[in-house]
Amino acid sequence: MTYKIAVIGGDGTGPEVVAEGLKVLKAAAKKHKFDYQLEEFDFSGKRYLKTGELVSDKDIEKLKQFDVIYLGAVGTPEVKPGILEHGVLLKIRFALDQYINLRPVKLYPNVWTPIKDKGPAEIDFVVVRENSEGLYKGMGEFQNKGTKDEVAIQVSYNTRKGVERCLRYAFEYCRKRNKRKQLTLVGKTNVLTYAFDLWERTFHEVGGNDYPDIKREYSHVDATCMWFVKNPEWFDVIVTDNMFGDIITDLGAMIQGGMGIAAGGNINPEGVSMFEPIGGSAPKYTGKNVINPLAAIGALQMLLDELGEEKAAADIENAIITTVAKMPSMAAGKMGMSTTEVGDVVAANI
Ligand code: IPM
Ligand code: MN
Repeated sequence: MTYKIAVIGGDGTGPEVVAEGLKVLKAAAKKHKFDYQLEEFDFSGKRYLKTGELVSDKDIEKLKQFDVIYLGAVGTPEVKPGILEHGVLLKIRFALDQYINLRPVKLYPNVWTPIKDKGPAEIDFVVVRENSEGLYKGMGEFQNKGTKDEVAIQVSYNTRKGVERCLRYAFEYCRKRNKRKQLTLVGKTNVLTYAFDLWERTFHEVGGNDYPDIKREYSHVDATCMWFVKNPEWFDVIVTDNMFGDIITDLGAMIQGGMGIAAGGNINPEGVSMFEPIGGSAPKYTGKNVINPLAAIGALQMLLDELGEEKAAADIENAIITTVAKMPSMAAGKMGMSTTEVGDVVAANI
């Protein structure tokens, strides 16, 4: 079996962290005896500035030929916000119907967290973020634009099918994870009485019928932010909509040690998935060999898990755990090692 992996380094520090991930991939493939083929794609702000190109439908057709996509980061300060997000990242997520955004929040031993008196035993949960609908659907309009009577409407679009497939993924994931077997729906049922009414009804219907072994909990999104800080141990698996998932996973990344270590996957369980570090392109650290590649290496671990290389993925996680124990900080420039050294140490630990 030869895995076909599309690699998008992207902008800023994206290519640097992806290079370290690929170093680790090489070590893991050698040990676990699998083959892979890489093909690079230059979707990025850099290319957009040069050629005006984003990700076209033809590009999407090419990406469909791969088993999986490995992404660094897309974004550069010279391009106005929104263009690359919509034209590259969201374009791929939507066109490949990567309807799950999976974001583990796991504090490894010896990693600093801003949450006092909480450690790896308390900070270990997973957020399943819906990744294809909600406010990200881009529905809405301006009325009377530019006048004093202007109205800007932005719609949260939630389909029964879209909500149900996300919930089913989360229930299955919770069962497979086999820890506390507790799935928490995060929403705002007290205010968003259409969207989260659908989510809540579907949650209990699907859970009651097909997942009686999984305990169902509910938490408002604002209270969830409070619990992340006060009692993160309360969570096992969380499922939520696109916007809330976006917001709470930045907070989640902070309590697990920062953007330097937070990884995520854009998953189409029946199609082509894409794995990425959650942090951005960090322009100010570009080319300095100081950025933390562990988030990208963690994304590679998730990528291999998705491909079914579970042993290799577990090895990578253990190598990350060994490596962080030698690092005084997860922050860029304060790791006690350079970017390439962190990659070398992880690869050596495989
Ligand atoms: C993320 C990012 C993206 C999102 C942006 C860059 C469009 O914040 O992956 O969380 O909002 O999903
Ligand atoms: Mn985000």
